[in-house]
Amino acid sequence: MPQDNIIEVHDLHKAFGTKVVLDGANLNIKRGESMVIIGGSGTGKSVLIKHIIGLLTPDSGQVLVDGVEVGTLGEDGLNEFRRKFGMLFQGAALFDSFTIGENVGFALKEHTNLPKRDIEKIVTEKLNVVGLYNVENLKPAELSGGMKKRAGLARAIAMDPQIILYDEPTTGLDPVMCDQINELILSIQKKVGATAVTITHDMVSANKIADSIAMLYKGKFVAVGTPEEVLYSTVPEVAEFCYIGKVIRQTEGIQGR
Ligand SMILES: Nc1ncnc2c1ncn2[C@@H]1O[C@H](COP(=O)(O)OP(=O)(O)OP(=O)(O)O)[C@@H](O)[C@H]1O
Ligand SMILES: [Mg+2]
Repeated sequence: MPQDNIIEVHDLHKAFGTKVVLDGANLNIKRGESMVIIGGSGTGKSVLIKHIIGLLTPDSGQVLVDGVEVGTLGEDGLNEFRRKFGMLFQGAALFDSFTIGENVGFALKEHTNLPKRDIEKIVTEKLNVVGLYNVENLKPAELSGGMKKRAGLARAIAMDPQIILYDEPTTGLDPVMCDQINELILSIQKKVGATAVTITHDMVSANKIADSIAMLYKGKFVAVGTPEEVLYSTVPEVAEFCYIGKVIRQTEGIQGR
């Protein structure tokens, strides 16, 4: 039976040497929702999503995805498990020596037996979804920052994932491009019905795409709820961090989606 929560984080602890990063983090993410994770630089947001995808193992606590405890999966199990995910890494992280087409088709080539022609067809289709045309043979260096993000997005959705993790998808982009990326995240979520988990510092983006917002602070989630609940929180550290987000929400008169 499908779980209501596609992702559950239970009392997650992670330290690097003496530096405690996650200190009892708890979070539930519902199937199909768009969850936005906010929090100061260096609070462990990227570390958290690396636990979700099994790139890091907890010191203690658990991450469950579809009811499966990620930390218990072996190498083979993890490879299979990761097919559920699409990931847009912080900074897009395309392979510089590969063409855009090869970048987007990478997982399809590695993890499926599809013939080259079919892979090329899917690559073009996914590039078109993110608004890129005739860029298959270009190298990442030939693309603008916004186009690289889009290419990263096309790569993230190449395998039709159930869960898409976006690590700061709008950082470094101009406002128009940010808006286009936000629209893409929403339309992909709608089209594919995937669960979206987005880390962002961009409060315009958080207001636009979130069903739920969770704020990480000193190793724990100190606020989780609807955008209204979190942005209008009176808990001092949350209110301070979310002040801009609240103003944007008020001035734009956003009433949820
Ligand atoms: N592999 C690692 N080894 C040692 N320390 C690490 C490692 N990965 C992350 N850290 C440390 O963990 C802390 C949290 O890092 P993380 O990248 O999760 O922050 P973040 O919340 O994503 O920040 P930002 O908003 O700047 O991206 C930082 O102090 C970082 O230096
Ligand atoms: Mg980060």
